[in-house]
Amino acid sequence: MKDLTTASGIPFDNYEDTQSAGPRGPLLLQDYILHEKLAHFNRERIPERIVHAKGSAAYGTFTVTQDVTRYSKAKLFGEAGRQTKVLLRFSTVGGERGSADTERDPRGFALKFYTEDGNWDLVGNNTPVFFIKDPKKFPDFIHTQKRDPFTNCKSATMVWDFFSLNPESLHQVLFLMSDRGTPYGFRHMHGFGSHTYTLINKDNEVVFVKFHFKTQQGIKNFTSDEARQMRGEDPDFAQRDLLTAIERGDFPKWTLKIQVMTAEQADQHPFNPFDLTKVWSHKEYPLIEVGVLELNSNPDNYFAEVEQAAFAPSRIVDGIGHSPDKMLQGRILAYPDAQRYRLGVNFEQLPVNRCPFAVHNYQRDGAMRYDNNGGRSANYYPNSFDDIRPNTVYKRPAETLSHPFADSFDRNAEGENDHYTQPGNFFREVLSQEDKKQLIRNIAESMRQIDGPKKEEIINRQFCHFFRADFNLGMGVVNELGVDPESVMSRMKK
Ligand code: NDP
Ligand code: HEM
Repeated sequence: MKDLTTASGIPFDNYEDTQSAGPRGPLLLQDYILHEKLAHFNRERIPERIVHAKGSAAYGTFTVTQDVTRYSKAKLFGEAGRQTKVLLRFSTVGGERGSADTERDPRGFALKFYTEDGNWDLVGNNTPVFFIKDPKKFPDFIHTQKRDPFTNCKSATMVWDFFSLNPESLHQVLFLMSDRGTPYGFRHMHGFGSHTYTLINKDNEVVFVKFHFKTQQGIKNFTSDEARQMRGEDPDFAQRDLLTAIERGDFPKWTLKIQVMTAEQADQHPFNPFDLTKVWSHKEYPLIEVGVLELNSNPDNYFAEVEQAAFAPSRIVDGIGHSPDKMLQGRILAYPDAQRYRLGVNFEQLPVNRCPFAVHNYQRDGAMRYDNNGGRSANYYPNSFDDIRPNTVYKRPAETLSHPFADSFDRNAEGENDHYTQPGNFFREVLSQEDKKQLIRNIAESMRQIDGPKKEEIINRQFCHFFRADFNLGMGVVNELGVDPESVMSRMKK
């Protein structure tokens, strides 16, 4: 038996009855155990993530299966067979912490690799593209995915108003509105790093790269009706599915593949290869296998290991780099900032976030510092006492600014505005007849909820985008919504 104690370790005899003046009398102020219990309870909630608040995570192992050292000197990509511990957190995007797992939404696919060169976070989604291409649009976009300020309800009007006013969203909108927008839990979907990153080899040669995690469980989705039903039956379906699969030893796996593009190819590329609303063709940039990711252990405590986990695209290790992708650049800043607010300045010391290998620096103090804070060692650099030094082995190759506008700066909105070719190809060439039917049905189901004085305007603006991508897509949505095609056509001609 262990003694029950206060937070300061003082054992006591009773946890359920507060001291009172007589059996029926008022309570005594001196019962500090009551204060401690209620006060700690009052502080149990921390801010939820501003996006991706509802999530599930598991630990696992990444194993290299193919030699890619010609591209990257990252230690985790060393020889075949090398293993690295990982944490993978899945999530929905727009819902609150208690929202249902089967909402139509992209799914987060956030990985932390605990490498000997520090933690590498690859914070991606289950889609290879995104809704916008400039980080400045992100807060506006997310506001439309959350609750209306007046009704406090989700609003299809806000959603489609934003989509229709930002046609670069179309590619991701088609992914979202297909049945892959309601995946069957987290095990049956792919993960994508989405952005363009770089790989750097031992000779400091740099290539651009995209990361793809292909599910070995096979793609499986809910239809819209099934997802709606599951929201009522088990709002935590995906959490339960992942947890129970791992508990019964059915460990989910993904194959990591990369696409590689040289700087010369990037220069010749017909569109900006750093544009997050577009993919790189598999035919031109074939997938190259790297390794296998397996999830094999559930966290023991959700709050400590999942809610307090912090992933950030800024955390990048030797042999891997960022790229000029504007969205990625914006994210480098946003995540650690969010985590200092959400978890406190010393969040990297929390066990789930702590690098299991050496950490040496001169950061000291701050709220909730609970290691020895550097003890007696010097807290400034340079100093004459310790042997901690920056290591030139980790110097990154200089980056050239080859773009003709790079020697000036401005708000360089993307000059190239082809928002339609890839969404059109996706509709025509990738989707089966059944997928197309489902996509059109799902779009109509959502657009039917647009209301208010701007309804017609929003719907018509979005029709234009569908038609510009593919005539049959536009026609399909028009027919499914029961709108008169003649009136749409004549409005579009104007
Ligand atoms: P490919 O034909 O080589 O690739 C098509 C890709 O689409 C495959 O990765 C396929 O893999 C995936 N796919 C199949 N069905 C669906 C679906 N219902 N929803 C989402 N993805 C699906 O063509 P390209 O590389 O030339 O790309 C053509 C179009 O395919 C792109 O415009 C893009 O819209 C889409 N796409 C491309 C990807 C890329 O990185 N190049 C990645 C995903 C989609 P799987 O079934 O295993 O997912
Ligand atoms: C979470 C910002 C785009 C995937 C977050 C968080 C912020 C944020 C502030 C919460 C972080 C935390 O509290 O720990 C942004 C901004 C973006 C952007 C400003 C655009 C500029 C993207 C894109 C992807 C993505 C393009 C995927 C390709 C994720 C994921 C999480 C997340 C998966 C959850 C991480 C976790 O599991 O803890 N984002 N985001 N975000 N974001 Fe983004």
